[in-house]
Amino acid sequence: LTTQTHENPMVSALLEHRSTPAPLLIDPAPDADALDTMLRCALSAPDHAAMRPWQFITIEGDARLRLGDVFVAAKQSDEALRRKPLRAPLIVAVAAKIIPEHPKTPPVEQILSTGIAAQHIQIAARALGFGSVWLTGPMARHPHVKQALGLASGDEIVGFLYIGSLKKPAPEKSRPELDAHRAVWSGI
Ligand SMILES: Cc1cc2nc3c(=O)[nH]c(=O)nc-3n(C[C@H](O)[C@H](O)[C@H](O)COP(=O)(O)O)c2cc1C
Repeated sequence: LTTQTHENPMVSALLEHRSTPAPLLIDPAPDADALDTMLRCALSAPDHAAMRPWQFITIEGDARLRLGDVFVAAKQSDEALRRKPLRAPLIVAVAAKIIPEHPKTPPVEQILSTGIAAQHIQIAARALGFGSVWLTGPMARHPHVKQALGLASGDEIVGFLYIGSLKKPAPEKSRPELDAHRAVWSGI
């Protein structure tokens, strides 16, 4: 398995990009400056009609225990959920604050913009030497979780980004063949 690289460092970063499995995410969390930088990178996500649907909710330290409480309360007595937020030193819940009937920008586009914002955070985290993984699961869709995080029921949590320092580099990934995903259209 060979990692593809490119002479352009930005392109290389994209070619090599990969998630870090949660067990490899350890203390310390990004400091306040690094976190600021990562979240500023999210603000350049493409955004139809400047909706700025993005909400980044950071959860660190003991707040992760309280998020565990919220998860358990959401899914009664599923104690395994309590420790989920402890898998990394920092969680960024990335949410789209949805405006349902916008004349130009349907909800799907607001969610797409928010997804791209989340990926900008992941790319910036990696560039700054941190690892991250984007996770959702039933908790991301649960009304009780949304409410506890200060979101409206129509808002969407596009992901929980688990972020931390690297215990060791994330394993390399094989990627699909481009040709399986490419088509050239030249008319009907
Ligand atoms: C919207 C979204 C939700 C995801 N939710 C989960 C999840 O709940 N659990 C999981 O194992 N991976 C989830 N993933 C996938 C991982 O973030 C990651 O992309 C995957 O493990 C492949 O690793 P790679 O990014 O290095 O290719 C999700 C990805 C996206 C885009």
